[in-house]
Amino acid sequence: MSVLPIVTVGHPVLRARAEEVSADELASPEVQRLIDDMIETMRAAGGAGLAANQIGDLRRIAVIEVDRNPRYPYKPPIPLTVIVNPVVEPVDAETVAINEGCLSVPGLRGTLDRHVTVRVRYLDRHGAPHDEIRRGLTAGTFQHEADHLDGILFLDRVTDPTTFTTWEQFDRYHRDAFVTRITEFVERVGS
Ligand code: NI
Repeated sequence: MSVLPIVTVGHPVLRARAEEVSADELASPEVQRLIDDMIETMRAAGGAGLAANQIGDLRRIAVIEVDRNPRYPYKPPIPLTVIVNPVVEPVDAETVAINEGCLSVPGLRGTLDRHVTVRVRYLDRHGAPHDEIRRGLTAGTFQHEADHLDGILFLDRVTDPTTFTTWEQFDRYHRDAFVTRITEFVERVGS
């Protein structure tokens, strides 16, 4: 396994739609190695997720894992999940304002609305189909990664640009209020 460089905003690969992966392709040693490298790269960078675009590959694959993440200590844990050809659909109209960051947008966070409850369909790395309901910040993480595979960054969904903040200023001026609000939200809706 290898830790790969993460592509940053401005690179066209982050703006391209990733392509569906066939069953044969998914089973290939090349794609299985790609998935291993994505997991290692996500963990080395301290990310909650990583889409293939972010390491310069346009296959429709993302990895997600949250385990007491120091970048996002308020996020409920998510066991390692590999999502291939994900389809993420809102279940109802309820949204929540989440302050997000992204490994491909170093240094910046911003606030955007995410659906609170989503239906998520995907293949795992072994090609087995999954059809799940995800809620809360976990639903937000799935939406963030699925967006990457459509060439969308969290920046595009920030409707109030005055919410942009560096991580340093987030810690100084915004973290306490956000964590208080989002912790109540997590306790209410679960994941
Ligand atoms: Ni991201």
